[in-house]
Amino acid sequence: MASSSIASCRILGVAAAAMLAGCATIDLRCAMGNVQRRYVELTRTLEAGGNFASRDAAIELRRALEARAVAVDSPYAGEPEYRRLLQEAVQSTDEVRKVAERFDREALSTLRSRVSVHCDACHSKYRRS
Ligand code: HEC
Repeated sequence: MASSSIASCRILGVAAAAMLAGCATIDLRCAMGNVQRRYVELTRTLEAGGNFASRDAAIELRRALEARAVAVDSPYAGEPEYRRLLQEAVQSTDEVRKVAERFDREALSTLRSRVSVHCDACHSKYRRS
């Protein structure tokens, strides 16, 4: 009984790890779906004005943008322009995180478009579909 529940825990753990890592390692489009979800979550937390939630969401979005499939395995990863646009997008999530950490609720509400301009900048050059 005990050993079977440990085993099923392990299976669940492996499945959860595969789900978390899996998407990021499959391809750029899949990883971008993850970026999109993190971005929506950040927008939601910024609108709600929660400092801790916004900080955490900004960190998660940064991680999604820095996923291997985006930063290393992307077909464009060798292009300096792509790397610059990605770097700027990552930096914009850091700006949001810093504002959130200052507990500056008013500034937080002005940050919504700060990240999305960087999504658009890269898409207008590299997104074909
Ligand atoms: C450095 C470049 C870059 C940045 C920054 C970037 N993207 Fe993308 N994104 C791409 C590329 C390239 C594609 C097209 C991938 C493909 O179709 O193979 C894409 C595709 C997408 C897609 C479509 C995925 C699908 O299922 O077809 C979504 C949604 C998306 N990005 C959201 C975002 C959001 C939100 C941000 C900003 C938080 C962002 N992206 C930032 C490069 C970028």
